[in-house]
Amino acid sequence: MATTNILISETEIRQRIASLAAEIERDYPASEEIHLVAVLKGGFMFMADLVRAMSDRVTMDFMAVSSYAKGTTSSGQVRVLKDLDSNLEGRHVIVVEDIVDTGLTLHYLQDLLKARAPKSMKTACLLSKPSRRKVDVQVDYIGFTIEDHFVVGYGLDYAEKYRNLPYIAILGQ
Ligand code: IMP
Ligand code: MG
Repeated sequence: MATTNILISETEIRQRIASLAAEIERDYPASEEIHLVAVLKGGFMFMADLVRAMSDRVTMDFMAVSSYAKGTTSSGQVRVLKDLDSNLEGRHVIVVEDIVDTGLTLHYLQDLLKARAPKSMKTACLLSKPSRRKVDVQVDYIGFTIEDHFVVGYGLDYAEKYRNLPYIAILGQ
């Protein structure tokens, strides 16, 4: 894969995350804790940069799900591979995801986590591909809305590769 097919640069990502972090901080009462739950593996880099742009009222946890078997097609099946260590009851929770594509993964996760009685639950996605949506899901914070491209980098993979790229690139161009 060529590495010049950059869709969103490191600088653009950094600037957008800084404004998302500021927006999130403004949306919650000043003294209240915000618990960020990243969805592995894709959400790890977004989480790492988002929390570093926020104040020390942030706590975090991680869960791992598998939504696609291999490659670029959706199976519609979501499996929890690693659950949270923390209890969500009475907390302000933000689910941190890499991308919302068909929406199936997020739809499943939101139902699962809402059942754990958080005080509030919102979702932050770095990327959204609205043209691919199969189910209607609420996403409160979106980094970038993109066209129907299969993208890699900044946590996102193709068959487990390219997660380490510090930018978002279109696969195979
Ligand atoms: P959804 O369930 O179809 O919304 O897909 C959610 C998951 O599919 C994401 O968390 C990603 O792991 C993966 N995914 C969807 N689109 C892309 C893409 O363009 N590149 C890499 N992974 C993707
Ligand atoms: Mg993936």
